[in-house]
Amino acid sequence: MDSMTRLTALKASVDVMLQTLGKGFGDGRLADAMRYALLGEGKRVRPLLTLSVIDHAGVDPAPFVSMACAVEMVHAYSLVHDDLPAMDDDTLRRGRPTVHVAFDEATAILAGDALLTDAFSVLSACDALDAAAKTKAVQTLALAAGSSGMVKGQMLDLWQEKTEIEAADLMHVHALKTGYLIAAAMKLGALAADMDLASWDRLGFLVGRSFQIQDDLFDAEGDETTIGKSLSDAKRKKRTMVSVHGLRKTKSVLLETFDAIDDMLDTLNVSHGVLSTLLDQLKSRQK
Ligand code: IPE
Ligand code: IPE
Ligand code: MG
Ligand code: MG
Ligand code: MG
Repeated sequence: MDSMTRLTALKASVDVMLQTLGKGFGDGRLADAMRYALLGEGKRVRPLLTLSVIDHAGVDPAPFVSMACAVEMVHAYSLVHDDLPAMDDDTLRRGRPTVHVAFDEATAILAGDALLTDAFSVLSACDALDAAAKTKAVQTLALAAGSSGMVKGQMLDLWQEKTEIEAADLMHVHALKTGYLIAAAMKLGALAADMDLASWDRLGFLVGRSFQIQDDLFDAEGDETTIGKSLSDAKRKKRTMVSVHGLRKTKSVLLETFDAIDDMLDTLNVSHGVLSTLLDQLKSRQK
């Protein structure tokens, strides 16, 4: 099977597992909102990164799909809360109304809370990891998502609307709000395949940086129908890569980041295969 076919198969396995997990949420309004958030048309970048890193090590990713989906659950929660009126106040996500619009604000808050909490229950039920690796995986995801990682980044992201922030600080906010979770996704893969984590961590933060720069570019240049979400950075006067540096400089920083990713891939001997194909797809992504 070629790499593209195997990547498509991995995505299908993630989607099947997400459906299964979604059924497990049970009935009622909370469960419906959780499913709505989790099962919308997402790209599944984070779980695919986890599984592709495992594949790169020559280990079968199949037993680790639930672990990868735990990362997607944390991501889905972050999007629900990111869109809330008190945060980015957006109404379109993954091509449909955001959760607080489709349901209501309290339900969106609670669906986010539940996805985050249940993610750890899913992760700790992944018995393909031995006890030590599981503990480390829980710790890695918790640290990435919590008050020293993504949530801190989201806090700074909101407050920087009100304060002047230097370009260097903006990179830091991006690393916190986006880099940490992407790096955690890659490190979970490395943990599962018993690889050294440090290089995967570095690669993860670089991928996170390129990912958020692209996201800021889409917000500035894209259209909502293609991207499938509200593009509101300018309206909200967000300090993004584009508003701080301008389009030209942002695009050149993106290319520099791609070069840094390529250097890391050389160090890690990633030259072909599913991971290489996924990272190529990310470079040329249009949404
Ligand atoms: C959007 O993430 C939020 C950011 C961290 C930039 P994605 O672009 O991965 O969103 P989905 O999961 O495909 O909807
Ligand atoms: C969000 O960044 C990062 C998260 C942790 C959710 P953005 O606010 O730019 O993400 P989008 O553009 O709404 O997806
Ligand atoms: Mg935001
Ligand atoms: Mg947002
Ligand atoms: Mg954005």
